Amino acid sequence: MIVLGIESTAHTFGIAVIDDKRILSNERVTYSTTTGGMIPYKVVEHHIKNVDTVLLKALQKANVKLSNVDLIVYSESPGIGHMLRVGAMVARSLAIQLNKPLVGVNHCIAHLEIGRMLTGTKDPVMLYASGANTQVIAYQGQKYRVFGETLDIGVGNFLDSFGRALGLGFPAGPKIEALAKKGNNLIDLPYIVKGMDVGFGGLLTNLKTKIKTGKHTTEDLCFSVQETIFAMLVEVSERAIAHTDKAELLLGGGVACNKRLQEMCRIMCKERGAKLFVPANEFLIDNAAMIAWQGLLEYNTSKKSMKIEKASIKPYLRTDDITVNWR
Ligand code: ATP
Ligand code: FE2
Repeated sequence: MIVLGIESTAHTFGIAVIDDKRILSNERVTYSTTTGGMIPYKVVEHHIKNVDTVLLKALQKANVKLSNVDLIVYSESPGIGHMLRVGAMVARSLAIQLNKPLVGVNHCIAHLEIGRMLTGTKDPVMLYASGANTQVIAYQGQKYRVFGETLDIGVGNFLDSFGRALGLGFPAGPKIEALAKKGNNLIDLPYIVKGMDVGFGGLLTNLKTKIKTGKHTTEDLCFSVQETIFAMLVEVSERAIAHTDKAELLLGGGVACNKRLQEMCRIMCKERGAKLFVPANEFLIDNAAMIAWQGLLEYNTSKKSMKIEKASIKPYLRTDDITVNWR
């Protein structure tokens, strides 16, 4: 079966083609800017401008004709409404034109399932650290339960806002990682862990004040931010592993590309005899291959297509709202 997946939850517009066993192509364009952040109407413009080129590239790389596609999948939830609508519209148009089944999937769960498929982890706790989302997720009783999460903003959005205050542009995560390597003085920062949850809002306010004083170097600030927030994420992940009695940790989301976060997770896992699984960066960040794969899993189980008029978007649907019937 040839599956075409469409990702469009935020800054990335992607199209991928997969078959039952392999990822044949995984194309994307990502909105970026040297100043400011992500303004929805500008991102939408960017995505719409790129739809046809991304589609053609994905088909060409996969060596597949549009007429050979058997299933269309799109990211239905969660995400920014403006951008979700672009993906849903493209998906509906293709499904009508090709007269093929259509499936909408949850983006967060897709991050988890592509990780399971690529790394071979069976029943992990997942640390899902992306721009908008920060969740510690594990499977229990037919659902992906959220054992811990951010109480305010996602860790990537926090890094991007901190980066904006430093004038680093968007996305700031990779730049902060590079600067952190040159820092060595650990500045005392608010460490916000409440039970299984974390928070970044207070830390952001604290940092904005610190930046204004000019007392610290950018490198030391980046270093200290990484050490602090990654320790928070590792702490709640470890607690979820202990609570669920699982022995595997899977990373997902753009922030999980960070080598220091990976290193800290590896140390924690080693110390408690658990195993760490990290997919390649291409599948940690937003990608359409995971959307196609998730759609295939769900379609193989239900054999059901969405009705075109019902194929809308659900910007606020949560990971734990979805009944997992494909496991
Ligand atoms: P989601 O919709 O799943 O919340 P997203 O749309 O924010 O995801 P991702 O590609 O998963 O997209 O993650 C993007 C985020 O990852 C950005 O906030 C970016 O700054 C951050 N990021 C990317 N690379 C790194 C890195 N090396 N270190 C830290 N953060 C990073
Ligand atoms: Fe994502």
